Amino acid sequence: MIPPSGYLRRVILTLTIVTVPLLIGLIFTYDIIKINWASNMEDQISIQYQTGPRKSAPGDAVRFDGPSEPKAGVPDNPVPADDVSLSRGQVLYERHCALCHGGGGLGDGPITQFWKPEMRRPANLTDARYATMSDGTIYITISQGYGTMPPLRENLNPRERWDVVNYVKTLSQ
Ligand code: HEC
Repeated sequence: MIPPSGYLRRVILTLTIVTVPLLIGLIFTYDIIKINWASNMEDQISIQYQTGPRKSAPGDAVRFDGPSEPKAGVPDNPVPADDVSLSRGQVLYERHCALCHGGGGLGDGPITQFWKPEMRRPANLTDARYATMSDGTIYITISQGYGTMPPLRENLNPRERWDVVNYVKTLSQ
């Protein structure tokens, strides 16, 4: 055999230096050599449900449920039922409520044809009962849902909810 020239020898040496660690690495990845890494959850530190110390929120953190979710009592409507609010409320009503409550508020939205018979149907918002219901109660209904009605606080911000409340009030008048 002809001994390899100096150049070839350097190439072979370089390839060996590069590939040997790679091959050794592959042995580990293919589980040929098993190393018992502590990867089982039962081996890790676990904090049990409700165990302390409980971290408190930074003082300047904004509560995600801040003024939009009253903690107690029924909130007063801070948004006057002017033309702007009512026209916004109508658009939002048609987008978020009409599919169940119907465009006219009769509780006959298109989705109700799929309603199971045993489920309580969407309220008829033209009912006189809603003319006397306080704005805050309707606001809470939108925010938290009611019976089969889902909470819609993630769809509507507080201002939008009050616009819808103002509009809903016009349905029963
Ligand atoms: C997925 C369907 C659905 C959507 C969307 C929906 N509602 Fe309802 N809503 C209902 C159902 C069903 C009821 C009756 C629940 C019950 O009686 O258990 C109801 C009840 C109500 C009531 C009566 C609560 C009471 O105390 O009598 C109001 C007011 C109301 N909805 C307003 C709204 C407004 C405003 C929107 C839009 C922001 C809206 N709903 C969106 C299904 C829906």
